[in-house]
Parts: sequence; C-alpha cells; structure tokens
Amino acid sequence: MHTSLPTETQAPRIVVPDDLVQRLEEQTGVTVCFFDASGTPVEPGVSPALQGLVREVLDAGEDRVLSVPDGLAGAWLVRQRGRPTLVAGALLAGLGPAGERLGRRLLGAVSEAIRTRFAQAELAGQCESLSGALSQSFEELSLLHNVGEVLRVTRPVISLMQYVCEELCATTGAEASVAYLPGVSGGRPTLVTAGVLPVPTSDLPRLFDHVLEVAPESILVNNQCRADPLLGRFSLTLEQLVAVPLMLGEGPTGTLALFNRPREEFGSPDAKLLRSSANATAVFVENRRLYDELQAMMLDLVRALVSSVDAKDPYTCGHSERVATTCRELAVELGLPDEQVERTYMAGLLHDIGKIGTPEAILCKEGYLEPEEREIINQHPVIGGNILKGIRQLEAVRHAVVHHHERLDGSGYPDGLTENAIPFLARIVGLADAFDAMTSNRPYRPTMPLHEVLAEIDRHAGTQFDTGVVEAFRRIDKKHLMEHYAASADTTPTDPLRR
Ligand SMILES: [Fe+2]
Repeated sequence: MHTSLPTETQAPRIVVPDDLVQRLEEQTGVTVCFFDASGTPVEPGVSPALQGLVREVLDAGEDRVLSVPDGLAGAWLVRQRGRPTLVAGALLAGLGPAGERLGRRLLGAVSEAIRTRFAQAELAGQCESLSGALSQSFEELSLLHNVGEVLRVTRPVISLMQYVCEELCATTGAEASVAYLPGVSGGRPTLVTAGVLPVPTSDLPRLFDHVLEVAPESILVNNQCRADPLLGRFSLTLEQLVAVPLMLGEGPTGTLALFNRPREEFGSPDAKLLRSSANATAVFVENRRLYDELQAMMLDLVRALVSSVDAKDPYTCGHSERVATTCRELAVELGLPDEQVERTYMAGLLHDIGKIGTPEAILCKEGYLEPEEREIINQHPVIGGNILKGIRQLEAVRHAVVHHHERLDGSGYPDGLTENAIPFLARIVGLADAFDAMTSNRPYRPTMPLHEVLAEIDRHAGTQFDTGVVEAFRRIDKKHLMEHYAASADTTPTDPLRR
C-alpha cells in the first residue's frame, strides 16, 4: 500500500488574527468579518447585506465597496500563494451621504491593513517552511557528509552499511533501520540492522521482497502498516515503514528502510533522506565490487607470476602460497589492520619472485650448493626488489621482499640489517618462510617433526626471528595451518638449503 506524501500545494488553513479585528474595529469603528473561499463566514452573526456582497465579490472575482441601507459595505479578496483563499468584509454604519467619500477611504485603508497583515503572515509561514526545509537539508547534508567521510573503498560493505543504518536512526529518530542486499554478483545475502527491530530478522527478506514487488523503483511510506493487508501480517509491532530501493546496476537490488517513529509520522523529508543515503550506499557497494574485482585480478596475476617461478624448481612448488598463508595468519594474530594483513599476504606470495632471475641449473641442483652458487641464489631478494620497483602500491611489499632473509643478529642478507632496521613485514615473511622450509620434505631427508620445527623456531627467537612474531606464531593453531597446507593443490617441498 502506498501512502501519499504531503504535498506543497495544499490550501493553507485560514487563521484570522484576533488582534487585527479588534484593533481595526476600535480604531475605525467598522465591523470586520472574514469568509472562506466559498463565502461561508468564519464567525457567525454576519449582516445579510455583507454576506450578499461577499457572494458578489466571489462571483465577480474582484473587490467591491457598496452603499447599503445603513452605511457602507466593502468586501476584498485576500490571496495567499497567488490565489484567493478568503474574503474580508467590513461594514461602516451611520454615514450620511456627505460622509460616503470619507467612508470609502476609510474602508480602503481597512482593506490595505488586512492585506498587509495576511501578507506578513504568509511571509512568516514561508520563512518557517524555509527554515524547516533548511534544517532538513542540513540534517541530510550532515548525514551524507558523515557517510562520505567513511567511504573508503577498502572499507568492508557490511561495515559501511552498519554505519549508514546507525546514522539514519540517530538523524531521523526511527526505532530501527535496516539495509538488505539479497546477494550482489551471486554473493550471499547481506542484512544489516540498527536499533530495535519490530519484525523478526528472519522475516525481513520476505518483507523486503514484498516491498520490491509493490514499489520496485519508488519510495514506500506507510504510517499504518497494521492496517495494510500484507504488511500487517509481519508483526503486530510494525507500525510505520519507509523503504527505498538500493539501485545497483540496471535495477533495484536491495532495500534501505526505517521502522517505527511513535511520536511522529514518517513523511517526505524522511523518504528524501533515505533516498540520498541509499544512493550513496549503492555507489559505494558498486565501487567496492569493482575494487574487489580488480584486487582479485591482481592476485590472480601475482599468483600466475609466482607459479612461473615455482615451476622452475619442482621442490618449491606451492611454497609461495603456503608462506603467504602463514603470513596472513601471523598478521591477523599480531592484530594488524585489514589492509596490512592483505599486504603481508602479498609479501608472502612475492617473497621469492627474484628467483625468476636465478639460473635453473642452480635452482634445481640437488644437494649442497657451492659458495659461488649460493652467492648467485642469494641475490634473489635484491632481484625481486628490482622487479617490484616503481609499483607504488607495492612499496611496503617490496621492502619485505628485499629483506626477508635478514636476521635480527645481523647475520642475514642482503644488507645484514639488525633488529628494528629490518622491516616488520620482512620479519613476518622470514619466519613464515623458515617454517615452510622446515615442514617440507627434502630430497635427501624427510620433513622435520612439527615439535622439532617449533623448538627450532623458539631457539632462534631474538637472534634470527623477531620475538613478537615468534610469540604470535606460538598462538597460531599449527594443526589448522598444516591442514591448510595439505589442502593446497601441490605441496611439493622446497629445499631449505637452497633458500
Ligand atoms: Fe627467499
């Protein structure tokens, strides 16, 4: 059920200022009366002569002043918003023929006073209305500004929708707000709520399906939901609802809604505010989808590149992906923000990208490496850094790639950095890299048992590995990590001696 919104063209209510009538009557001796646009007097007890004159004025559409048996009568159309909305009448009794000219001037002055007063009242009304509209616009702009402030494309969609719902409740005074996306690009439905819902959460998808059905591309405002044959079925406490579609792509994809505001009906300002919020949300969701697609494409490209490196050496297949997985687990455990977590994952994926420049004869050589061969293979962090040079977005990743073989005691390479001089991401990658190396099979000896690997990592905490990263590693569920490794497509081992 659609409920019509209040319009701007409704006839204004006639309010006759008492003080005006009293003042005019006291100062001029006239009797002043008012009539509505159909000629009905606002107050009873009007003289028949004046009543007749008012009808004449309404029929003719113009003002008149006439001599009547007991004096002079005048009637004037009063216009509001450009159209006649009432008639003012005045009766001046007790004038002789000699006083008629003076009486007409007096009635003219009375009519001017009345018109001026109503014009002032209309202006005051317009000011009030403009003030209300300004206040509404301010609230709308304020909400959109607040939403705009948090519209970072890296922000998760759910987090943004939650923020919008909470802001809507705070701005409109609605008891609850809901954002619903049945599923973007085949994804799972997203339902975000704020406030106290009058409808069970499980019923919301069905309710919004109904809203989209009856108002696919328009605003739904209903202040009497319980009387609605369909909406009334959902809940006894669902009284009021405003809903607008979230327009994604070519058509409505979701809904943004407000529920219940007991002390005031929802109206067009609320609907307008909701529409603006829905538009901002829809633009964000679409941008986020494009961003995710770009991210996924970049990850696929990086994986393809990394695979080409891993493919050079059968013992390193899957190594980069496993290191990246461990890096992500460590970053999460260390409490890094989401963007840093993904950056650490990327660093894990790319850490050995420099091996693309290592001759296969050395990379694939079985057994121990000669010193000069080790020197060549040890150039891979620098080569990797050179490959990533100039990619602004991967600058932090590049530093991790260059320094992932540094050790806290300065015995690592390529620069022999110590302690905090080693980039933090590089310290995370360093531990993840060593863990994968030790837990992988080698051609000349089997995988080290997990407890030995963990003891080895503990033993080198503070000399090779960052103690904070080691502590985070202790807290990680290693069984889960190994299961993740096992689930990888190819777990062919790396050879730690050639790292
Ligand atoms: Fe490496």
